[in-house]
Formats: sequence, C-alpha cells, structure tokens
Amino acid sequence: MVHRRRPRPSFFAPSGQSSRYYKHVLIQHELSTEVHAGRLYLAPVTNPRRVLDVGTGTGDWALQFARQNPASSVLGVDVVPVKSAPTEPNCSFCVGDVEEDWQFASGKFDYIYARSLARKFADTRSYLASVYSNLHPGGFAEFQEWITELRCPNSSLEGTALQKWNLGMLQAFKRIGQELDFIHGYPSKLAEAGFVNITERRYPVPVTCWAPGKRLQRIGALMRQNTAVVLEMYSETLFIGVLGWTKEELHTLMHNVRNDLLNNNIHCFAILMTVYCQRPMPLNSSSTKFPVSGTPVSASKAR
Ligand SMILES: C[S@@+](CC[C@H](N)C(=O)[O-])C[C@H]1O[C@@H](n2cnc3c(N)ncnc32)[C@H](O)[C@@H]1O
Repeated sequence: MVHRRRPRPSFFAPSGQSSRYYKHVLIQHELSTEVHAGRLYLAPVTNPRRVLDVGTGTGDWALQFARQNPASSVLGVDVVPVKSAPTEPNCSFCVGDVEEDWQFASGKFDYIYARSLARKFADTRSYLASVYSNLHPGGFAEFQEWITELRCPNSSLEGTALQKWNLGMLQAFKRIGQELDFIHGYPSKLAEAGFVNITERRYPVPVTCWAPGKRLQRIGALMRQNTAVVLEMYSETLFIGVLGWTKEELHTLMHNVRNDLLNNNIHCFAILMTVYCQRPMPLNSSSTKFPVSGTPVSASKAR
C-alpha cells in the first residue's frame, strides 16, 4: 500500500469532491469506453495477476476491470480516498501520491493503467521510471489523456466564444505551470524510460452532435455534456483567478459558450489519445513464464 506522507491539495481533485466533479469523472468514463468501442483498455494483456489503476478517481475503471477479469487482483490508488467501498472481492483502493511514493506492499504489477490524470507531473521522467520499475518484465502500462486544444476541419470554429474559451483555458493552465496536452510527449519519453512495443491511438471526439452516424452522435452528446460541466467547474478559477477577467466578462463568455455547445454548425473536435507499452522481457527469458502475453493489437482491432 502507498502511504501518503502529506496531503497535497490538487486543483484537479478538489478536496471537497463535489457532486459536479464526480459527474464529470463519470461522464468521462462513459465517453472513454464509448470512444474505445466498449473496450476498457487497449493493451494486449491476458489475465494479468496484479493490476494498478493510477489516479482511480471514482474507482469505476478499477471495479469494471475487476469484474471483467475475476482472476486479477486490482488496486486503485488516488491522492484522495475513493468515496464508495469496493464492491468486487478482487478490487481494493488505497490513498497515495504516485509523485512521491510507490511503496506497494504487495509488490510489482503485470499491468498499470492511468487515465485522465489531466495534469502533467512535475517530473514526468521520474513518474514513468516508477511505472517501469513497478512492472514485472513483460508487463504493460497504458496511459490515456485528452488533447484539449480544439481542432476543426473547416473555419466554423473561428471567432466563436467556444474557441475563445478553449484558448483562454489553455493559456491559464500554462500560466499556472500546467500543460494539459502533455500526452503528446509520452511516446518518446516512454522509449527513453526503456519501454518497448509503444503503440499510440488518437481518436477525434466531436464536441457537439455535428458528426454523422449514431455512434458519433452519442459520443458528441456525451462530449457536449462533459464540456458543459468543465465550463462550469473551472472557468471562474481560471479566467478570474488566473487571467484576471471580470465576473461580467466571464459570464458573457460562458453564456455564449453554452449557446455554441448547442450549435451543430460548429464542427470542432478534441482528441483522446491512448498510449500503451511494454516493459521488455530479459533477453534470455521466455514470454510464457509471465502472466502477460501477446503482441500489440493492430490499429483496426484497437479501434
Ligand atoms: C480526472 S480524475 C480521473 C479518474 C479516473 N482515472 C478516471 O478516468 O475515471 C483524476 C484523478 O487523478 C488523481 N490524481 C492526481 N494526481 C495524483 C497523484 N499524484 N497520485 C495519485 N492520484 C492522483 C486525482 O485525485 C483524481 O481523482
């Protein structure tokens, strides 16, 4: 178990854990599963014995993984305690800060998963080195984050309140020393850390219901809901607290963003990026000795 040396309040994990925050995490969980075509994870793991969910949040991913893999023992770790008790016998939670401490009494893992931590750690290299050294040789790690800078295949986002809000958020995060789109740099950093079979997937996620087809409409509706929650949750802190806007300026912007979110003529999307990788086997060992197996799934299968 990880022991938390001192509480570290985080902008991204409000200590009060408001119901709005939980709603946001739950929508993101649903979105992620929908975008990955119902899959909880992409790494080609087979019956991993020990699994760690880093920044487990509501614990939903850990619980679902435990349900789908009854032979696995799943541990969810978070700086703040998980609100509900684990409902699966093979799933447990603990409080810990992965920037400080990786002293897990139960030893190494076969699979480490980290989704939507939404914050760049002060020392990414040291974090990835800890992930590497806490995996058994042959074990897999998987990371999933949003690339939040909105893109658009035409000019329909240009000059909108939605674009202004999105760029303002990114600017404010930068000013407080955060870089939201840090997962761009993961593939090269994972290679430096010693990982092999590094596989990345980027999924464009429409922000409203503009994209055709039932599945993309469903995803667009979830993403619109998610963006609306993020708008209410973080705008005041970022625009007034960090960028120095007035309340009136922000309220006008937020009003216009809410309208933009209902406008399916704005064709923008964010990107959900997933990277998985493997700790190499020692040169003289056979992969059958380890509980993880397989080669990376092909792009078509992963989608
Ligand atoms: C946006 S939530 C995502 C929760 C979950 N991974 C999911 O996708 O549903 C991010 C979580 O990461 C946790 N977190 C952030 N920094 C952490 C750290 N250094 N160690 C452990 N957990 C951390 C936060 O407390 C928060 O619960």
